[in-house]
Amino acid sequence: MSASVHALADRHPGIAGVEVANITKSFGPDDARVTVLNGVSLTIRKGEFVSLIGPSGCGKSTLLKVVAGLSSADGGTVTINGKSVKEAARRKAIGLVPQSPALLPWRTILDNVSLPIRINPEANAGRTLRDPREILTSFGLGKAMDRYPAQLSGGMQQRAAIARAFVFDPDILLMDEPFSALDEMNRDQQRMGLLDFWQSNQKSVLFVTHSVPEAIMLSDRIVLMAAHPGRVAEIIDVDLPRPRNEAMYASDAFRDLEGYVRSALRKVMEVAHV
Ligand SMILES: Nc1ncnc2c1ncn2[C@@H]1O[C@H](COP(=O)(O)OP(=O)(O)O)[C@@H](O)[C@H]1O
Ligand SMILES: [Mg+2]
Repeated sequence: MSASVHALADRHPGIAGVEVANITKSFGPDDARVTVLNGVSLTIRKGEFVSLIGPSGCGKSTLLKVVAGLSSADGGTVTINGKSVKEAARRKAIGLVPQSPALLPWRTILDNVSLPIRINPEANAGRTLRDPREILTSFGLGKAMDRYPAQLSGGMQQRAAIARAFVFDPDILLMDEPFSALDEMNRDQQRMGLLDFWQSNQKSVLFVTHSVPEAIMLSDRIVLMAAHPGRVAEIIDVDLPRPRNEAMYASDAFRDLEGYVRSALRKVMEVAHV
């Protein structure tokens, strides 16, 4: 994104939530350029949970990196509460949870979660920081704070990584398949834990997943992407009541929606393989 695009975004502070508008991104040398994102637009309103689902290679991680400010787009704009990504990243308004927990093995869980605060003192000026002990407790890790990552299960490590993303009290949380390495039972437990935490914190979330039931259980809306080039194929409203619970997997409304999303996903994959 150009400097003028950032400046424009910074002049519109009134917009709450995340606005992704017409993002284009390609990789490769000029004579073999591959368009990975082609005019991707989506909105995540304040406090809204939006999932990204789509075939492997359709650009989900690339889009997340653009929204996180880790990668720049060739065209289009991203604004976070009316600010450019650059400005939002500077203020630590963006929390990123990677696919693997990436905790430092030689530090305790509490140290791992406190570290971003200590290494970013300039970002702390004038903002409310969350108490790492309090966050860990609300993630059910109160008794595990003084343990080392290797002493925790995979699910607990992933929860610590999510807790770490919360210390700066970000406006938006970006999560790239955070539960994909967990077994199904553990996964479901983490899912419901995240849902509880989100319901009491009301952050905007952009959540990448491969799992249709996971996308439905968590989201307000599901953005279905198609590949080659990566683009938004359909945006599906999840009009299930909240708070949600595991019993809802078996409800007719859930199953209807699951059937719908699966067939939409199938259509996108068929087109990709012609
Ligand atoms: N840094 C990069 N350099 C070149 N190609 C890349 C790079 N990052 C991603 N790609 C390509 O972009 C496409 C989308 O990748 P990615 O965003 O990881 O997809 P997804 O997360 O949906 O599986 C893939 O074809 C991938 O090979
Ligand atoms: Mg990916």
